[in-house]
Amino acid sequence: MNQEEIIIIGSNGQLGTALKEKYPSANAVDYTELDITNTKQLNEFDWSKYKIILNAAAYTNVDGSETAEGRVVAWNVNASATANLVSVAQKHNLTLVHISTDYVFDGTKTPHTETEFFSPLGVYGQSKAAGDIAVGLLEKHYILRTSWVIGEGNNFVRTMLALGKKGVEPTVVADQIGRLTFTNELVKAIDHLISTNAQFGTYNISNSGKPASWADITRAIFKKANLDLHVSDTATEQYYQGKQDISLRPLNSVFDLSKIEATGFKLTNWQDDLDNYIDKELNK
Ligand SMILES: NC(=O)c1ccc[n+]([C@@H]2O[C@H](COP(=O)([O-])OP(=O)(O)OC[C@H]3O[C@@H](n4cnc5c(N)ncnc54)[C@H](OP(=O)(O)O)[C@@H]3O)[C@@H](O)[C@H]2O)c1
Repeated sequence: MNQEEIIIIGSNGQLGTALKEKYPSANAVDYTELDITNTKQLNEFDWSKYKIILNAAAYTNVDGSETAEGRVVAWNVNASATANLVSVAQKHNLTLVHISTDYVFDGTKTPHTETEFFSPLGVYGQSKAAGDIAVGLLEKHYILRTSWVIGEGNNFVRTMLALGKKGVEPTVVADQIGRLTFTNELVKAIDHLISTNAQFGTYNISNSGKPASWADITRAIFKKANLDLHVSDTATEQYYQGKQDISLRPLNSVFDLSKIEATGFKLTNWQDDLDNYIDKELNK
């Protein structure tokens, strides 16, 4: 695969940053260089060099999407702009790689398979589901549906490490169950699908390993970082009580990973990637 035939869109986010590392010779464009909500910019862009669009752009502020301004941005970026990319891919015969989320489900089924029907609880999940529907209309597409992404940027592991370093003993939600997805795992999965010419369609991807709650993950973070701090469990409903503009969240985010495994992809346990990630964070 010729990296120069790849364009990475939304290149400054967590996933975009990891994709740039994997494909240094690809063209990587951030929001200021290519705004996917801007159809004029998209139409004037020279797509002739490319074969594959890796779309890492999204509006990922889950609670922000519940506000009056945020719901407009969420629908514009995650749904309408994704449809813009579908038109571009169709017109120029490009493969579109797009990222979906556990938030397109209400979390009542476990584990989530690729064929589960949409049942989003909040605006973010609704707008992402609409984007998935648009991408699904394209023949040459991969949708990688993922959860709890950890990479370069603000994320749960960094937040908990920062609290732990200050000696804070946090109260953490214990009734949302899932698996972390480190961006290197997500990038490996993208690379595997495009480089093996896997069948087009939707694939679940997270790290493997025992599903855990955010509270369990916090305990694993503190243990690895040698922080002898107590983590108290709470329920999602209790945690968000009295707070404004909070999205409902799926309580179960665990994916069935058998479809991507059947393509020959070897999954990494989230505990192993978490340990490596914390080693790097502590050595900064
Ligand atoms: N984070 C998670 O836990 C999680 C879980 C499941 C699925 N996902 C999905 O995984 C993908 C990557 O997530 P991430 O964590 O890497 O997100 P992220 O760090 O928030 O990155 C998203 C990037 O998209 C850019 N962007 C926003 N609007 C844009 C526009 N109109 N045109 C071009 N770029 C735009 C953002 O730019 P600015 O920073 O300048 O706004 C940002 O750099 C997304 O599709 C997300 O829905 C994420």
